[in-house]
Parts: sequence; C-alpha cells; structure tokens
Amino acid sequence: MRTYFDGHRTVRQYVTQEDGSPLRLSADHLDAVLHAAQRAPTDATAQLYSIIHLVSPQVRAEAARMTTNPHIATASEAFVLCADVRRVVRTLEASGSQGGHWPAVAVHFGIGDAVLAGQNLLTAAEMLGYQGCWIGGVLNDLDGLIDLLALPQGVLPFSALTIGQAAEQPPLRPRVPRPLVVHADAYRDATPEELRGAVEVMNPIAARRDEPGDWARLLRAYFGPGGGMEKREPALEAALQRQGLWSAQA
Ligand SMILES: Cc1cc2nc3c(=O)[nH]c(=O)nc-3n(C[C@H](O)[C@H](O)[C@H](O)COP(=O)(O)O)c2cc1C
Repeated sequence: MRTYFDGHRTVRQYVTQEDGSPLRLSADHLDAVLHAAQRAPTDATAQLYSIIHLVSPQVRAEAARMTTNPHIATASEAFVLCADVRRVVRTLEASGSQGGHWPAVAVHFGIGDAVLAGQNLLTAAEMLGYQGCWIGGVLNDLDGLIDLLALPQGVLPFSALTIGQAAEQPPLRPRVPRPLVVHADAYRDATPEELRGAVEVMNPIAARRDEPGDWARLLRAYFGPGGGMEKREPALEAALQRQGLWSAQA
C-alpha cells in the first residue's frame, strides 16, 4: 500500500493533442472519476459541494489566466471544487422549509466536503494511470472566478484540480517527519531543533533547476509578513462576504 501512495506525484505538464489542445479522458474514465468523487463520505448526509467541470477552451483559458496555472488549459480534464451550501438550502425550500443561519458551519462543512470529493476524484484518476494537480491558485482571482463560473450565493471555489497523462516525471516530494504531524493523545509542540530538522528534510521540495532548495525561504514567501497569503487575505474575506458565507459581526 505504501508503494501505491508513493506513486502519487503532483504533475503540471500533461500529454496533449498534437496542436496542444487537451487530450480528453474517455467517457468511461471520466465517468469513473466523477463517480469516485460522488462516493466520498459526507458529513450530515448533505454533500455540501459542487464540481464545475471546465469544458470550453475559452473558460479553461480564462481560468488558467486567473489562477496563474497554465495547465488548466492543457490538462485532459479540469475542475473547480466548490463549497456549496446553496443546494441544501434550496432543497429545504423546495420541501416547504427553509435554511437556518450557520455561515461559519457552512465554510467548515463545505470545504470539508469539497476536499473529500476532489481527493477521491484524484485518487481514482491515479488508479487509472493519470496524475493531477490541485490548484489553490483560485485564490489569486476569486472575484474573477466567481464571475466566470457564475457562482451564486452560497457557493465558494475551494480549489481547481487538473488531471491527465503525465508529460513530466517529478521526484517523490518529501513530507515533514511523522512525529511532528501525528500526536499521541494530546498535541505536542515540536522543539526548535525538530523544526529545523524538518526544514532540512523538506528543502528538496523547494529546489529549482540550478538552485538547491530552501523550504524556510519558500514558507516565508507564502506565509511570512508581506507574503502571498497576506495578499490573498482581503480577497478571500471579500469573497466570503459576497457569497453570503461571512459570520463575523460588522
Ligand atoms: C489544496 C492544494 C492547492 C495546491 N495549489 C497548487 C497550485 O495552485 N499550483 C501548483 O502548481 N500546485 C499546487 N498544489 C500542489 C502542491 O504544490 C503539491 O501537492 C506539493 O508540492 C506536494 O507535492 P506532491 O503532491 O507531488 O507530493 C496544491 C496542492 C493542494 C493540496
């Protein structure tokens, strides 16, 4: 089983048609991966997610530009996994009832369900011999994506996901040592030495062609002051408000 999971690689370059357009999955394979997505377990039976299948070349190209992930245009298939609390509320309304007020719970349940469905889809694709890539780059232009995909209130993009035949062979990428991730009975803070050791283990994930990896520098660029995540924060807050999923008091 370890061998199976060690087969996973995030892949960003895919085999395409000769003209560079996507080499689409067969109908059977597409059906299999979408079936797997829908078989994911779901809290409270609710299935609080939707999958937008990006089909037209124009929508693919726009989504690739907005997310700054060009492979959305070239992968065999591309999807946007969304938290979706709209359908359940509309189901209640269609059944003569109405939804309550639970915007924070909506984010908790909706993101959870979107992740479970998307990862099932990716695992099924890998079982069929494909590889894929989750794309949190949706946070680079949430507003644009909400417009592009006509996402109504109650629906929030979590991440895109591409799948296809790999046209690159990335290395097995490292993970933080298990004792820092798995805790027995109670949370244990890692020591600074252990954390520096984890950086050493993770350094190769940040390696570029001729440069050795520096994971701490990569983390700083993402999560440090003035980094990418601080830049994303206001747009995510605005999108949560726009989609009716903001629970903080004004
Ligand atoms: C939620 C999520 C969002 C991600 N977003 C991106 C992305 O926007 N662009 C990208 O190239 N890779 C993205 N990745 C892929 C990660 O970089 C990759 O999983 C990580 O480096 C570990 O590599 P591995 O999956 O090959 O083990 C994302 C992964 C996840 C789970």
